[in-house]
Amino acid sequence: MTEVVESAQNPVILRASKRSIQSVNREWWRTAVIYQVYPRSFADGDGDGVGDLPGIASRLDALQELGIDAIWLSPFYTSPQRDGGYDVADYCDVDPLFGTLADFDALLHESHARGMRVIADIVPNHSSDRHPWFEAALASPPGSAERARYLFREGLGIDGELPPNNWPSHFGGPAWTRIVEADGTPGQWYLHLFDSSQPDFDWTNAEVREEFRSILRFWLDRGVDGFRVDVASSLVKAEGLPDRDYTLHEDLAPCTGQPGVHEIYRDWRALLDEYPGDRVLVAESWIKPLTRRAEWVRPDEMHQAFNDLFDDWDAPKLRGIIDDTISAFSAVGAPSTWVASNHDTVRQATRLSLPRSVRPNGLGPDSTGIPAYDETLPRARALALLTLSLPGAAYVYQGEELGLPEVADIPDEARQDPTFLRTEGEQYGRDGCRVPLPWVADAPSYGFGPTDASWLPQPAIWARLARDRQQNVADSTLTLYQDAIALRRSRTLGAGTLEWLPAHPSHVLAFRNGTTTVLINMGGEAVRLPAGEVLLASSPTQADTLEPDTAVWMHA
Ligand code: BGC
Repeated sequence: MTEVVESAQNPVILRASKRSIQSVNREWWRTAVIYQVYPRSFADGDGDGVGDLPGIASRLDALQELGIDAIWLSPFYTSPQRDGGYDVADYCDVDPLFGTLADFDALLHESHARGMRVIADIVPNHSSDRHPWFEAALASPPGSAERARYLFREGLGIDGELPPNNWPSHFGGPAWTRIVEADGTPGQWYLHLFDSSQPDFDWTNAEVREEFRSILRFWLDRGVDGFRVDVASSLVKAEGLPDRDYTLHEDLAPCTGQPGVHEIYRDWRALLDEYPGDRVLVAESWIKPLTRRAEWVRPDEMHQAFNDLFDDWDAPKLRGIIDDTISAFSAVGAPSTWVASNHDTVRQATRLSLPRSVRPNGLGPDSTGIPAYDETLPRARALALLTLSLPGAAYVYQGEELGLPEVADIPDEARQDPTFLRTEGEQYGRDGCRVPLPWVADAPSYGFGPTDASWLPQPAIWARLARDRQQNVADSTLTLYQDAIALRRSRTLGAGTLEWLPAHPSHVLAFRNGTTTVLINMGGEAVRLPAGEVLLASSPTQADTLEPDTAVWMHA
């Protein structure tokens, strides 16, 4: 068992059965490995085919074995699930699909007992259209206090038949939907940057601000260690909701990156700082350039902001992202936060080998250019060694530690991503990276749950990649992640500094982090390894050769 002890001299001391007694620094988040759990797809406790909190609790030993520091839980709140739970109807309760508040408390307790922190996902840009506030807004007249919590506007055109401005929804189609007023006539429009079931809040409204303070407190009081903040750059919109100028880059759109948003996070930071235990705010912000994104992680705002995903298998490009991230974030005293994949991207075992010209939002049965799994896995494994060797914090999306590929073969009728529906199938969307995980090769639903049920169909390759097939297997992807996370800790890579090594071809990234040298070959030709001891390799290496699509860690 693990015991968490806090005292004035020693902020947090973990006594863990697996780890020796150790003092965990305050500011644990600067170097942590954080594992993203997408609850619908992680583990199903009750056999209904949808993952749940008791399912997660039943698999905590596996996460502890992986060696992670914290879990980020994607939303599990009461929700009609029109966007996988990012459409919240009650921010202070658990959806019955996922369990109960008592299940949440138990999961938190069990995670803490194993020395793992838990970060919840807060969705402040929009609620579900089934949130009582939005239902009240629909039932109230234009100009009412109920409507003022959201962004209702009159339409343009002779009869208000046109949307109030030209903003698009991220999921396809316009960002506005017109409602029918209580008297049956076509009425105002409301803004939704995502699905029409996700109306945007009006963050100039003091009631909205107060409500979110109390939501944060609700979860902090229960003991969560922080929040990943969904769509963190878009809460505040430009005054007057002006049309977007499409000659300007998306990052300059009036619905994102408005300066007023920072005040919200300063307020939240002060609120979190009232709590003991080093709780964190993590920005989901894709604003560019990175110097601008770093504004979200200034000392009085959030703690982490995700880096740019590594999409291209291109050494100079990756080096540029790494340099820009480290320099932008260190300039404000924040750690770099490396994310290779998440629940919104094509899985890295597939993504990194897609032809450059193909950058789809999801893959489907008729997508072309998808390389064979065995050809693409080495890149995913090499990228894992890269992200886990960089100074800063690192996120691992569930299933990456098993080397899962994107699942393209999902029938249309099974797809649930609103992107697929709103683009009428033109974009397949994100279901392919959300297929329920394989735990046991020879069990119903590959051990995802106690029955055959799975909310998305699982492919046959899951039998080969199931966790039990990889456990204690020397060359498995699971073992690679376990070894890498353990070495990263023992060699304090998260707290290190990066120093590029000269004299390597441009398709090779080579750097030193403390006493560890990292090399990754992203070209088509093998290169010579420097002399020294190889600590870990993403693919088998021959004596002194670094093969293409391979990364190694060496003793410097
Ligand atoms: C989340 C998505 C979600 C969207 C709307 C994002 O950035 O990661 O999964 O669909 O926000 O809430």
